[in-house]
Amino acid sequence: MFNFDRVIERRGTHASKWDNIAKLSGITAPDAIPMWVADMDFAAPPGVTAALKEVVDRGVHGYYADTGTWAKALTDWLARRHKLTIEPGWVSPTPGIVSGLGLTLQAVSEPGDEVVVFPPAYHAFRRIIVANGRRILDAELVEANGRYVMDLDALKAKLTPRTKVVFFCNPHNPGGTAWTPEEIRALAALCIEHNLILCSDEIHCDLMLGAARHTPTLTAAPEIADRLISSFAATKTFNLAGAHVGACVTSNPELKRRLDARILASGLASYNAFGMAATEAAWRTGDDWLDALLPYLTKSRELLDKRIEAAAPGARSMRLDSTYLGWVDFSGTGLTPEDVATRVKSRARIFASPGEQFGPGGASWLRFNFATPRSILEEALGRLDDAFSDLRGGR
Ligand SMILES: Cc1ncc(COP(=O)(O)O)c(C=O)c1O
Repeated sequence: MFNFDRVIERRGTHASKWDNIAKLSGITAPDAIPMWVADMDFAAPPGVTAALKEVVDRGVHGYYADTGTWAKALTDWLARRHKLTIEPGWVSPTPGIVSGLGLTLQAVSEPGDEVVVFPPAYHAFRRIIVANGRRILDAELVEANGRYVMDLDALKAKLTPRTKVVFFCNPHNPGGTAWTPEEIRALAALCIEHNLILCSDEIHCDLMLGAARHTPTLTAAPEIADRLISSFAATKTFNLAGAHVGACVTSNPELKRRLDARILASGLASYNAFGMAATEAAWRTGDDWLDALLPYLTKSRELLDKRIEAAAPGARSMRLDSTYLGWVDFSGTGLTPEDVATRVKSRARIFASPGEQFGPGGASWLRFNFATPRSILEEALGRLDDAFSDLRGGR
C-alpha cells in the first residue's frame, strides 16, 4: 500500500540531507550518498499530503488559530500508540524539539548552570546548552551486553550545586537504546534526590524496531511528573522535519507557566500553519503508514548490521531498538578514525555522521542513516564493501 522502495529525487529541492553534502562533508562526487542527518527519503503519509493540499488549494495563508485540535491529536496519538495519558492543557508547541530544549533551559536555569548529557548523545543537545551559556556535564554511557547503560553512580559523584537540568534521550540517539522502566525509574530517583529538572526527549519513540517497545518516562516514573518536561513530535516519525514543530509536555502548571513565558518572550506563541496542519494530520491518519514503515526499517537495519560487519572485519554495528540511525564502532578494525573516515568519504562517497560529534565515547564510531529506499541502501553497502576490501585478505 505504501511504496518505500520508490526513489524520489531530492537533489536541488532544498533538501539539507542531499543539497548540503558538499558544503558540510567536502564530498563533491555527484553520486555521493547522504547517510547523515536524521530525515528519511520516503514520502510522508498520504493523509499529510492531502491535508497540505487542502491548505494550498485554499490559497489563503493567514495566521494560524490554535483551537486545541493539534494538542488533542497528540494526546490521542500517545494514548493509542503508547498507552500514555496526558492532557491537551499540558502541551506547549515549539518550533521543534531542540528549540523547546533551549527555551526550557532559559525557563529553569541560569547562565553558568550545568546540564547533564549522556554521551555519546545527539549533538544538538551540546550545541543548545553551550549556545544558551550553560555548561555540559557529561555522564558517559557505558556498553554492557551490546547496549548502552547509564552509570548513575559516576554521575552522582560529578553533580555540583550548579547542576540543574538533565537532557535524557528516550529512546537514545545514537545507539537506539530503549531504556527499561527500571533504568528510567533510577534516573528519576536521582533527579528527585538532587532537585533536577528532567527533560525527556522522546522524538524517536514511535520508531521502534522489531519487538522493541517504548516506555515513556512519565509511565515508568510518574513520581517525577512535577519536575518532568517530555518532548514529542510527529516530525521524526512521519518524515516532516522541515515542518519544524514539536511539543513540550508537562503536568506541572508552574513549570508550564515558566516555559510559556519564555515562548512568549521569544515571539514564538504563534505557530506555522503548514507545520501544524501537517503534523496534526500525521497523528490523525498516519497509523497504517507507520505500521508499514517499521518492518521496512527493521529489515534495513538487519541488512546494514550484517553487511557492514562483513565488509569491515572487526566493525560492530550496535543492535538498535529504535531509530533508523545505524551506529557502528570501527575500533576493532585496527584502523584509525581518520583512515575509516577517508575510506567512507573518499572511496565510498558516503556522508555518514562522524561519531566525535556525539561527544565523549564517539570517536571511533560513525552513524549511518539507513532510512532510504532499499536500492540506495544496497548501493551504499556495496561501496562500503569495496572501501574495506583490502582488510579481507586483499580481495
Ligand atoms: C534526539 C533528537 N532530538 C531532537 C531532534 C531534532 O528535533 P527538531 O528538529 O524538532 O529540533 C533530533 C533529530 O535528529 C533528535 O535525534
